[in-house]
Amino acid sequence: MTTIGIIGAGEVGSQIARAAIAVGYDVVIANSREPETLSGLIAELGPTARAATAADAASSGDFVIIAVPLKLINDMPVSALSGKIVLDTNNYMPWRDGNFPIVDSGAKTVHELRQEQLPTSKVVKAFSHIQAPNLFVLANPVVGRARHALSVSSNYPEAVELVTGLYDQFGFDTVDNSPLSESWRSAAGQPAWKASFQHQQRSELVANLANAERLPRRGLE
Ligand SMILES: NC(=O)c1ccc[n+]([C@@H]2O[C@H](COP(=O)([O-])OP(=O)(O)OC[C@H]3O[C@@H](n4cnc5c(N)ncnc54)[C@H](OP(=O)(O)O)[C@@H]3O)[C@@H](O)[C@H]2O)c1
Repeated sequence: MTTIGIIGAGEVGSQIARAAIAVGYDVVIANSREPETLSGLIAELGPTARAATAADAASSGDFVIIAVPLKLINDMPVSALSGKIVLDTNNYMPWRDGNFPIVDSGAKTVHELRQEQLPTSKVVKAFSHIQAPNLFVLANPVVGRARHALSVSSNYPEAVELVTGLYDQFGFDTVDNSPLSESWRSAAGQPAWKASFQHQQRSELVANLANAERLPRRGLE
């Protein structure tokens, strides 16, 4: 039995938990507060879910999903995440997160910053350009039937492989948009992001990633 640690129990963290449990994973999930604050969610998720602190979720997971916006001062449990593949759903939203000049200038992507904050983990951008409810709405478990495609970016091939398998279990095709320095191509406002609200097949996602424009930052158009 594989256990997924999920840090962040908001819209996307809780929905990934539902999708993971539906395909047979155990889940240990955390928010920023006491685990007891997640009792309603745990009751809904059932016996294969458990609430925990972020550090406990990190150490319990065979791999870990961070569904929390990136802050410039790291708020994730670095040592508990050490050596693990860490899926980062984070999107950079200046209206919500404030401006990160190093990202605005194009020098770094937010996911390169996450990798710098977690130097002993294998960070992979995943699940970032699909709205949480669409994890079920757009999923199609049958391979080869024009499935919706999601991108993945990492500096670690083994992390791309893990996410590709997870996407497949959840009912999605994968486009590898590695390394993390290329992850801006699926960011908010880019063509791949806009198309993600509807059905976007693999060939369309490949074209949309290629058509992304780096500067000026387009934000959330
Ligand atoms: N919503 C979507 O459909 C969607 C889709 C793809 C990607 N994303 C991206 O994924 C990220 C999360 O989005 P969201 O919509 O799920 O946000 P959200 O609903 O606001 O949830 C954020 C979660 O993160 C938790 N959190 C914040 N700081 C934490 C910390 N230091 N340790 C542990 N948990 C912490 C919050 O806990 P508390 O409740 O205790 O504050 C909350 O459970 C964002 O970057 C977003 O842009 C969102």
